[in-house]
Order: sequence, then structure tokens, then C-alpha cells
Amino acid sequence: MQTEEVIRTRRSTRRFSDRPVEEEKLEKILQAANQAPSGGNSRTCRLFVIRSRKVLEDLAQIAQRAFAAMEYDENTYRSKRNSIAKAKQGHYVFHYQPAALIVTVNQRSHPNALVDCACALENMMLMANELDLGSCYINQPHWLDEDPELRAYLARYGLTEEETICGSLAVGYADTPDGLPNRMGAPKEPLAVTWIDEP
Ligand SMILES: Cc1cc2nc3c(=O)[nH]c(=O)nc-3n(C[C@H](O)[C@H](O)[C@H](O)COP(=O)(O)O)c2cc1C
Repeated sequence: MQTEEVIRTRRSTRRFSDRPVEEEKLEKILQAANQAPSGGNSRTCRLFVIRSRKVLEDLAQIAQRAFAAMEYDENTYRSKRNSIAKAKQGHYVFHYQPAALIVTVNQRSHPNALVDCACALENMMLMANELDLGSCYINQPHWLDEDPELRAYLARYGLTEEETICGSLAVGYADTPDGLPNRMGAPKEPLAVTWIDEP
């Protein structure tokens, strides 16, 4: 695809098939993260690529417990409120059971920690689309950055106290008849743009 088409047709995928993702495709996705810009060229963003079914299940249970223990009111951010409400109902799987969940972490002390990871995540979403893979930005690990159980669990795999969990990406083949991601989402209304051209 041309760049314009990759960008225009990227849409979030939230239903994944069991088909594993080829190693070469995952490598290309990680390369795309590697090419992302970073504030001050700090390049401190780190990635955990989770393919283990057991670990994905454990993470879902940790998130289920953490969100179910939270309260919400009308001021709670809508997406977070949904997570809490679903977790309270039970069986909340925040990551949609993808072939891989790529969790991005960064140095807490880095002022651009979150943004650098978001740049890497966007690059990966676009590369996934180019490779006929579905993907979805998943923020629950970021919301649980301070959750002791999640931190202890990821510490087993090398998360340090100096690192903050910035976000994650579900990647895999879409659960569609042809296995291709949905590329025909509702048209997006134009963002507000102010042109400033005066001499
Ligand atoms: C910062 C950020 C956080 C997001 N978090 C989640 C999430 O936790 N779960 C989810 O299903 N989608 C999440 N999304 C995906 C958005 O819901 C999605 O991009 C938006 O609805 C537009 O749809 P599209 O990606 O198909 O264009 C997130 C997107 C961004 C940029």
C-alpha cells in the first residue's frame, strides 16, 4: 500500500482469530517502533512482546481484579468507566486475546515518556495495517501503572521501578471471513483546523 492508503485505512481491530502472526511480520512491526521519533532522540522506550497465552490470561485476570476494585462516577473518563463497569460484571478481557500484546514502557524521569511510546505505537499500527494485520491501541496497562500486582508481575520479566507503563498494542489476524482487518470504519469528521497564513 501507499503511505496515504495505509494511514487512511487503519482502523482498530477488537476481534482476533487464533492464527499466529509470522515472526517476520512481528519483526517488521518492531522495526517500525524502532524507527519512531523520540523527544531529544532519547530512545528509552522499551517493548515487551507478549505471546504467551498464560501471561495474557494472567494479565487479563490482574486487570479484572484491579478494575473491579475501583469506583466510578459521572466524572470518570468514559473509557475507564467502561473498564470498571465490565470488570465488576466479571470476565473482563481488556486485550481482546490477540496473537501478541506489545506493552511499551519508558523511563519515569523522561518528560516525553508517554508521547515517545505513543509515536512507537502509531508506527506499529500503521505497519500492522500494511502487513494485513489488525491492531488496537490498548491503554489499560497504562491506567494500571501504579497497580502493585501488575508491576510485580511484569517485574518478573524485567520491568524496573524506574519505568512507567505507557500503553500497549494488541496485534493479530482479524477474526473476519477473509482474515483481513476491517478497513472501512465510519468516515471520520474533519478535526478542527485553523489556518494561519497571514504575512
Ligand atoms: C491513547 C489511546 C488509547 C486507546 N485505548 C483503547 C483501549 O484501551 N481499548 C480499546 O479498545 N481501544 C482503545 N483505543 C482505540 C480508540 O478507541 C480508537 O482509535 C478510536 O475509537 C477510533 O477508531 P479507529 O482506531 O478504528 O480509527 C485507544 C486509542 C488511543 C489513541
